[in-house]
Amino acid sequence: MLILHKNNNINQLMDADAIIIGAGACGLMCAVQAGFLGKKVLVLEKNSQPGAKILISGGGRCNFTNQWATESQFITANPHFLKSAFSQWTVEDTISFFEAYGIVGQEKTLGQLFPDGKKAKDVVEVFTSLCQDLEQEIRCNAEVKSIEQTADGFKVSYTKGDKLKTCTAPKVVMASGGLPIPKMGATDFALRFAKNNGLAIVETAPALVPLTITGKDEEWYAQLSGNSVFCEVSNDKMAFEENILFTHWGLSGPAVLQISSYWRRGESINIDLLPRQDILALMEEERKSNGKTLLSTLLNRFYAKKFTDALGKFLPLGKPVADLSKVEMESIKQTIHQFKVKPAGDKGYDKAEVMRGGIDTNELSSKTLECKKIPGLYFGGECVDVTGWLGGYNFQWAWASGFVIAQNI
Ligand code: FDA
Repeated sequence: MLILHKNNNINQLMDADAIIIGAGACGLMCAVQAGFLGKKVLVLEKNSQPGAKILISGGGRCNFTNQWATESQFITANPHFLKSAFSQWTVEDTISFFEAYGIVGQEKTLGQLFPDGKKAKDVVEVFTSLCQDLEQEIRCNAEVKSIEQTADGFKVSYTKGDKLKTCTAPKVVMASGGLPIPKMGATDFALRFAKNNGLAIVETAPALVPLTITGKDEEWYAQLSGNSVFCEVSNDKMAFEENILFTHWGLSGPAVLQISSYWRRGESINIDLLPRQDILALMEEERKSNGKTLLSTLLNRFYAKKFTDALGKFLPLGKPVADLSKVEMESIKQTIHQFKVKPAGDKGYDKAEVMRGGIDTNELSSKTLECKKIPGLYFGGECVDVTGWLGGYNFQWAWASGFVIAQNI
């Protein structure tokens, strides 16, 4: 295929129209979209292959977007910031982009789209083969160490093996991701660069991360390890209705991962163990129809026996419902609908799916994602202070930001 590189004659002495740092979701989408526009990019990737996180995403199946995605499922200090990018690249754009290359979205639950009959590796392959067709180079085992501004753009230094190399371009795209899973190549390069260059950073922390329980309650959670219960997990900011999963060190499962992004150390979370039901009304009804029913029998209608038995620490399970006092019924209601948990901490970046916080969006143009203080430098994907819910939202941001940057480099 003949590719006309629009700017080649302008920047004959440069290596590319733009250097993209990171061949993750944002960097790959940016490279492909730039290629469609006839712009030549050079993608520098620390890992030995592109798209490492795409490959492990969604348990190897890649939840590549969410049909319900709007700005409101994202955490950022400035919610208005997302409007422009999300209007330039919509969920429908993601769906039709992938469909064009044989990846058809199938909804699993809650609007989450996964490739029908295909896997995460097929998603990565869409990008690698498009990059090949469009003659966009992805240079692997290339870890960027520094970016310097020059008279006509940027000089990027990177290590390749034990050699320090440089390349130049009028534009640079920072798509080096966030801090989660260091063993998969995650670096703090974007954050370090921002700090060294006076760009504001919104405080970072692990998000979509399991929460730990220590101290006297630890054993109670550990005995339930492997059990999951449908709950509503909430704090004063947000509520999520999905499963929680007990583990030998605390709590995980989608509802807990979701609330973790809104949780701060020292705070409690509330778990409604029987959402959409009213345990008081259920007990009253049972008292009328069959007062001899034991509380355990009533609860076993909703929970696995192991979970009901564990609730025996807090509830008079062996009592017939007719014999429960008003005070006992009130206390049962509290336990079932307002089960308070004070996590000791979280499992950290080794287990987090994303990073909360990042480059302050006030440093960037919302229309182009160009850095206001360093023209020609763009930030996209997870290194920016935009964190989505669990369920395909984070990829939607990565694709959208990659697309937007490609229009402007
Ligand atoms: P990403 O991390 O994808 O890419 C950054 C790249 O930059 C990496 O390849 C890294 O090696 C490279 N890099 C870093 N520093 C560098 C340097 N100095 N020089 C050169 N290269 C450098 N989201 C979702 O929407 N649906 C899902 O199913 C999942 N599932 C999921 C599972 C797990 C286990 C994790 C950890 C995460 C998810 N996510 C997810 C989140 C999703 O993976 C994440 O939001 C995107 O990958 C972010 O895309 P970026 O391109 O910003 O970073």
